[in-house]
Amino acid sequence: MIYQVYPRSFRDFNGDGIGDLQGITAELDQVAELDIDALWLSPFFCSPQLDGGYDVSDYCDVDPIFGTLADFDDLISSATTRGLRIIIDLVPNHCSQEHRLFKRALAAQPGSAERELFIFRDGTGEAGVLPPNNWQSHFGGPAWTRIVEADGEPGQWYLHLFDSSQPDFNWDNRAVHEEFERILRFWLDRGVAGFRVDVAHALVKATGLPDWGGRADGGSTPGFPFTDAPMFGQPGIHDIYRRWRSILGEYDGERILCGEASVDPLTRLADWVREDQMHQTFNFSYLAAPWDPTELRRIVTASLEAFDSVGAPTTWVLSNHDVVRHTTRFGQGHTEPHRNGDGIGPDDHQPDHDRGLRRGIAASMFMVGLPGGVYLYQGEELGLPDHTQMPHHFRQDPAYHRTGGNRLGRDGCRVPLPWTTEGPSLGYSPNGQSWLPQPEGWAALSREAQQSDPQSVLSLYKKALSTRRQHGLGSGSLAWAENHSTDTCLAFVNNDILIILNMGDTEYLIPDLPVLVRSDMASTSSRMLAPEECIWLQVV
Ligand code: GLC
Repeated sequence: MIYQVYPRSFRDFNGDGIGDLQGITAELDQVAELDIDALWLSPFFCSPQLDGGYDVSDYCDVDPIFGTLADFDDLISSATTRGLRIIIDLVPNHCSQEHRLFKRALAAQPGSAERELFIFRDGTGEAGVLPPNNWQSHFGGPAWTRIVEADGEPGQWYLHLFDSSQPDFNWDNRAVHEEFERILRFWLDRGVAGFRVDVAHALVKATGLPDWGGRADGGSTPGFPFTDAPMFGQPGIHDIYRRWRSILGEYDGERILCGEASVDPLTRLADWVREDQMHQTFNFSYLAAPWDPTELRRIVTASLEAFDSVGAPTTWVLSNHDVVRHTTRFGQGHTEPHRNGDGIGPDDHQPDHDRGLRRGIAASMFMVGLPGGVYLYQGEELGLPDHTQMPHHFRQDPAYHRTGGNRLGRDGCRVPLPWTTEGPSLGYSPNGQSWLPQPEGWAALSREAQQSDPQSVLSLYKKALSTRRQHGLGSGSLAWAENHSTDTCLAFVNNDILIILNMGDTEYLIPDLPVLVRSDMASTSSRMLAPEECIWLQVV
């Protein structure tokens, strides 16, 4: 069970309006109460923060807005005392334009060793005015930017699959491998339990950088299957992870690699978690599953089969810092999942909050009952929705700015957490500062408000997570319970617990067994499972 912390929005200790490492250390007891194994921290390294820290200018130091290396050491030791491990985010596909290596590359000549660390090419067309190929950035616009050479003339172009401030490294170059092996060891020596590897499917590009007419994020479209994308899933990538796995193996204790690999189909994603490569990878097929029992069952079954085939644990996730929170997605009244980077704003049709919360919490309870690894995103234990009314002038996501506002971006799921029932930023910051505004009404969702309420979402998560551990569900196995599966209900047994999710709009008669957990904590019905409710029953 891994809990994702997005540091800038978790807790601001020093009062500058941006969350920091000391803030995380200060609240570890709150997180430990959730009965999790590890925290995964999104980037806190030196960065100009043009993509929320995924634009790293120094991989081996802490950005002053988040604190110092000493603060990080304190965090590790405080976490260890509580039996929690710390996993950090490694961003190997690209760095920041402010990274010393990129600055040196800009100052050097075309063809130099400095430039060879990145992907520089001459342009096409007359005088090289056109980009080297037609690749598009994930955040909109071309994936190439032309530089001005030392002589003041327009010169070569460099590749950036994301923002122009995030130049891609050249993983065909041994020196890049050596640099990252040094970075891995730096953090392993400091005691981290492993790495979440950012865009782990993109590091190696196809020889010759051929044109690609498909989606920028590689998602399959007619005529352009993901498997053909020249910037994703290239065979050479796997040797990198074999090498990293062997480096982790040199260290004591359990150290893991978890890949953020947007790869489909699931059978192919399993290649990332073969025995000698990563330990886990995110399951984005599951995250994108619509509120539909047939489709959900298909994805769960396919996930278990794919991961079992390589002996890796299947993982499950519903929310993270890149997608609209699932309590909001499920309130949208249609089954289209939101794609990475597309938020909801004040001009859009507003989701049904109550329905989203009800479905979202039921979906969470279904997920927490599954065997394998579960990833939670900070604030989902409070039932937080996205901020769907955020005024546009607050938006910081490069996806918003690079598309002229066509895509609203991911700020809506990154809003600072509410800790207390009072104060201008609800306890997030000591002086009320907050880098993004919190929506109206979040006082009632704050941790303080929910802590003492036995029927709160927080109390439900605590109960479900501790029951999951007591009954060994993480290392259990799934058997679909056909006698309780209908057109609208999904049911499975994991160890000694029967879990039923009612995705329909009529009640379902449940067997007369002791109730361990139910997503509607206020329910008084002993035999009927309400629509959009999930229940855990003790099989005797
Ligand atoms: C990953 C991160 C996302 C970031 C992107 C570029 O998808 O999760 O937040 O913008 O990589 O590093």
